[in-house]
Amino acid sequence: MAQVTKEQIEYFRSLAARRLEGERLRHTLGVARAATALAARHGEDEAAAEAAALLHDLMKETPLPEQIALARAQGLLRVPADEAIPQALHGPLAAAWLRREHPELPPTVALAVENHTLGRPGMEPLEMIVYSADLTEEGRDFFGLDILRRKLYDNLTEGTWACMDSTIKRLEAEGRRIHPLTLAARADLQRRLGH
Ligand SMILES: [Fe+2]
Ligand SMILES: [Fe+2]
Repeated sequence: MAQVTKEQIEYFRSLAARRLEGERLRHTLGVARAATALAARHGEDEAAAEAAALLHDLMKETPLPEQIALARAQGLLRVPADEAIPQALHGPLAAAWLRREHPELPPTVALAVENHTLGRPGMEPLEMIVYSADLTEEGRDFFGLDILRRKLYDNLTEGTWACMDSTIKRLEAEGRRIHPLTLAARADLQRRLGH
């Protein structure tokens, strides 16, 4: 299977530095560190985790109306919630770009970028790693974060379920709409854990 090279990682790091500013770049580098650590801890591909983390928010500074137009043009709007919750489109957009421009990468890298905001049923370990690193990187600070980090350290599936559950509950408390893919992803993880 294709490996992510050191040169590719350095290229993606410079791409992130060119495309992202200030806090978003800091966040991206924090996610890269958190994802690499989780991959090392759970015996997953550290280079693939770092590459996916460096690329995960690459499209996030594109204005939302433009993201919606790009997603529509590329057939990425599949269910009404995709357009109703456009804050999640930057993942699928960056993944589509990655599959076009870097077909040599392991397919899990694009999958991890694609699903880092919403998750999906059947998440692979690398997808869980980037999803969870996004929420728990060193710059985050919220009540319960330590518990999430500990769970992720102990068990990736359990920890990812806890991250997703906490995100869903926060969105519910804020009265915000939850994408059906996220609810399906949480139910799938729950089933896999035998809860
Ligand atoms: Fe994101
Ligand atoms: Fe992010």
